[in-house]
Amino acid sequence: MANMSHELRTPLNAIIGYSERLIEMAIEDDKKSSIKNLEHITTAGKHLLFLVNDILDLAKVEAGKMELLIEEFTVISIVEEVQVVSEALIQANDNTLFIECPEDIGSMRTDQVKVRQMLFNLVSNAAKFTENGDISLRTCREVRDGDDWVVFEVRDTWIGMTPEEAAKLFKPFTQADSSTARKYGGSGLGLSLCLSFGRMMGGDVTMETKVGVGSTFKISLPASITGPVSEETEFIDPMEIDEFSGDTESLAFQLN
Ligand SMILES: Nc1ncnc2c1ncn2[C@@H]1O[C@H](COP(=O)(O)OP(=O)(O)OP(=O)(O)O)[C@@H](O)[C@H]1O
Ligand SMILES: [Mg+2]
Repeated sequence: MANMSHELRTPLNAIIGYSERLIEMAIEDDKKSSIKNLEHITTAGKHLLFLVNDILDLAKVEAGKMELLIEEFTVISIVEEVQVVSEALIQANDNTLFIECPEDIGSMRTDQVKVRQMLFNLVSNAAKFTENGDISLRTCREVRDGDDWVVFEVRDTWIGMTPEEAAKLFKPFTQADSSTARKYGGSGLGLSLCLSFGRMMGGDVTMETKVGVGSTFKISLPASITGPVSEETEFIDPMEIDEFSGDTESLAFQLN
């Protein structure tokens, strides 16, 4: 797995790095016609790198080899990072992102990189599937059975989904319908990784959605993971996630 990862990422990083260098040179030499073409190479390379990273993550999860890197970090810092990284995506569709995070929310002790990746996917989904609308990212701390939990909620006010569409989303490589990939891009891996990561960290990802009204995705995580985790991490096979067969238009979707 480590070899494979190296073999795939190294040439891709070289393509991206060299094309960026060539853009700089084209700018210095004022070669406008080359700049656009070189930018296409960089964009395509970065897109492919994202995809390769997601596929490698999925392969690791499926092989039971995904590990958690536990560290302490402040919740606000991660919310702010996600806000900064998603700014361009939010603006692309003329959306507005509202952030709510209490100043005294404190810190978490868990896998920071995975939490960031999960949140970014939810916010980028909301931004991709919303036009000229409001998206909110709310964070709060809760006590459940005496333990501290942190809950991140991403809500959009746009297309929403039918129960049939919603039922498939947490499976890898699935999108609401076949036109999604053509219109919005993406590979349909984000939510399945989100769920796998959430469960590895002892939490869960749930959603509520209603056609024409919008969707709310919720990540609930224990604020602190104690003890060694990687060996004991329960492995869930994303391919075996149950399909939801509901017939109500609005549904509370909980993956068991
Ligand atoms: N907020 C949302 N509103 C409407 N549909 C959504 C929303 N979030 C997800 N979806 C649907 O769920 C599908 C799966 O989402 P997921 O994040 O797994 O994949 P993706 O965004 O298409 O691709 P990737 O995340 O791999 O780049 C999306 O393609 C879309 O059809
Ligand atoms: Mg996504």
